[in-house]
Order: sequence, then structure tokens, then C-alpha cells
Amino acid sequence: TTVCEYKPGLEGIPVAQSSISYVDGQKGILEYRGIRIEELAAKSTFLETAYLLIWGELPTKEELNKFENDIRYHRRIKYRIRDMMKCFPETGHPMDALQASAAALGLFYSKRALDNPDYIREAVVRLLAKIPTMVAAFKLMRKGNDPVQPNDELDYAANFLYMLNERKPDPLAAKVFDICLTLHAEHTMNASTFSAMVTASTLTDPYAVVASAVGTLAGPLHGGANEEVIDMLEEIGSVEKVRPYLDDCLQYKKKIMGFGHRVYKVKDPRATILQNLAEQMFDKFGHDKYYDIALEMERIVEEKLAHKGIYANVDFYSGLVYRKLGIPSDLFTPIFAIARVAGWLAHWKEQLGENRIFRPTQIYTGFHDEPYIPIAER
Ligand code: CMC
Repeated sequence: TTVCEYKPGLEGIPVAQSSISYVDGQKGILEYRGIRIEELAAKSTFLETAYLLIWGELPTKEELNKFENDIRYHRRIKYRIRDMMKCFPETGHPMDALQASAAALGLFYSKRALDNPDYIREAVVRLLAKIPTMVAAFKLMRKGNDPVQPNDELDYAANFLYMLNERKPDPLAAKVFDICLTLHAEHTMNASTFSAMVTASTLTDPYAVVASAVGTLAGPLHGGANEEVIDMLEEIGSVEKVRPYLDDCLQYKKKIMGFGHRVYKVKDPRATILQNLAEQMFDKFGHDKYYDIALEMERIVEEKLAHKGIYANVDFYSGLVYRKLGIPSDLFTPIFAIARVAGWLAHWKEQLGENRIFRPTQIYTGFHDEPYIPIAER
């Protein structure tokens, strides 16, 4: 074995070979299967992009139709899953509810037939179809209400907003939401994807793979940041208070949520697209004063931290878009999960092609040959 330098957080260490996505953090470029994110956001849909990520090529018209129809057919969740979710405490975080529900899917559908392409496809379809339904169901059931059944007339994004808000969404809102999903679908070797791959490498079932990734995405340094951004904007409350708030963060070395990235040293290209979507939403549905606070924050953070390569990341503007879509802030991270299922499954499928169990090493810093001290003598 070669001895390599220990890098906390595995920074800069490749853990896989992958052809799914590419990031150039200096130039602010993100590509899925070689296609720029700006192109996909403008021209594709989330489900077409998911197909591209998972199967490596854009689908033909027939392939896309079949994929969309299969997903539509599998959107409902079993009443036993709903009954299980009804027992979850209403104060529990929706990410925890989602992690438990995703794992529960394995109780029904796990076959571990990982060498069977039909099983792979079936698991992809079921997970993409059912995760949004579970997120929407928990949102209603935690208030004691019945969940809304999926509506077969509506496409993926519109149906989710319908199940969530109990009414058909405005077409612009549905389109904007679909683009948000596309933007969050995949992002190279981030923490949750790595977590998914470690789990996948044991050849466990795809429901366990997704459940472990959801648990990883939940933390505030990863997907949880989008919720914290809105909390922060609310806490600041007005444009004048932005500078003192940021001075305080910098003085006490507190991380400013929605800024900074392990890979991007310029503004995240997804933040630029999301900012534009937020503006479209404000034009149509009314201004949000938190946007003014956000703009001022971005301006001052750039002034103070650009020299360190710290700029707005994907989580900075997404919450402002979701707020305008009527989505409560503790669902922002579950929405990130709905989208990222596509990326997790793409990496799962890629890894099954040439799997080796993840088993890194460690640098032991403890003692050796210590005596065992009987409990009475400690
Ligand atoms: N606010 C203030 N300072 C920061 C920030 C920030 N948001 N991010 C990094 N820094 C500083 C950090 O203090 C350190 O400074 P110094 O060298 O003087 O000690 C330097 O930049 C390097 O930071 P790091 O924490 O070592 O960088 P990392 O690559 O380990 O962390 C990060 C990346 C995303 C976890 C971090 O930037 C962060 O915590 N950001 C806030 C949370 C957030 O917005 N997360 C979402 C990430 S994007 C998508 C996603 O995963 O959801």
C-alpha cells in the first residue's frame, strides 16, 4: 500500500472515476454529461435531465415519454407508508421524515437484484416517482390533514406543487420549480453523493443508498444551508442591518450561510440562474423585501471575502424562489433531495458497473498495550 498524505475532508482526493458531471470551480462551469447547466436549465426538463444523468444520453422522444409515463404511474405511495408517516411527530424535521420513508420503501421493493437492468430501472422510477409524494404527504399529515393524491394530468413539477399546496400551480411557478430541480440534480462528488456511493459499494439496496444520502444532505454545511439562509435573512430583517450582521460574523468567525464552496472560487453558476428565476417570480407575483437584504449581503460579502474566493453558492437564492412558490422553509432541503435523487442514482448505477467496496484507511493516534483497569479502581 502506498502511504499518502492525510487530507481532512478528503479535499482534492479523487474517490471515483465518473463521467456524470463536471465542475470547473475557477471558471464557474458546471456540466451534466458534458452539457452546460445553463443549456439544460433553459432547454431541458428535470425528468429529461434525470434520464441524461442516469443513462448517460438524452432520451429519444419515445424513451422520454415512456420514462415520464412510468414515473406518473408509480407516484402513489402505499397506505402503509402513509400510516407510518402519520405516526411521525409533527415537530420532526421533514428531512428526517424523508430519510425514514425512503428507507421504508426498501421494505416493499428491495430485491437486491442488482445485476438485473429491469430492477435498476424499476428502482430509479420508483424513487424518482415516490420521493416527492412522500415530502408532500408529510407536509400535510403533520398538520393532521389527509395527503393529496398525485394528479395524473400534471407533470412532475406541477404535480409536486399541487400535492403540496392543494391547488394547481401557475404555469410559470411550475416551470420555475422544474428548473430548480434541474439545477440541483447533480453536483460531482459532494458529501451526500459520496455517502450514497459508500453505501452502494456494499451492494445494499437502492432505497438504503438514497436513505443514507438523505441523512447526509440534511446537515447545515450541505443541503441544510438553504433553510438557514432564509432564517438568516429574517433575523437580519432590514437592509441597514446587513453590514453590522456581517461584521459580527466575520469578527466571531461565524460562517455566512449560502456563501463559500469547496470547489467554486467564483460565484456558483446555479446561484446566477436562481437569482434570475427569483426575479422572474417577483415580477409576476410581487416583490420580496428579503431579496433586497440578500442583494446587499451579496454585495458586502463580495467586498469583504472575494479575496478568499467566497461567493454566493446554490443555496443563497434558492430559498427566495421557494418562498415565492409558497413552500415552507423546512421543506427547502427535502426539495433539494427530490432533485438530487437523480444524481445519487446516476452514481449508484455508475458504481455498480465497476464496484469495489469503499474501505479507506486511517492514521491511528491512540495508545497501545494499555492495561485494563478494573471498574472499582477507576
Ligand atoms: N462565511 C465566512 N467565511 C467562510 C465561509 C462562509 N460561508 N465559507 C468559508 N469561509 C472561510 C473560512 O472561515 C476559512 O477561512 P480561513 O482560511 O481564514 O480560516 C476559509 O473560508 C475556508 O473555509 P473552509 O470551511 O475550510 O472551506 P470548506 O471547503 O471546508 O467548506 C463550505 C465549504 C461550503 C462547507 C463552507 O464554505 C461553508 O460552511 N459555507 C456555509 C454553508 C453553506 O452555504 N453550505 C452550502 C454549500 S453549497 C451546496 C450544498 O452543499 O448544499
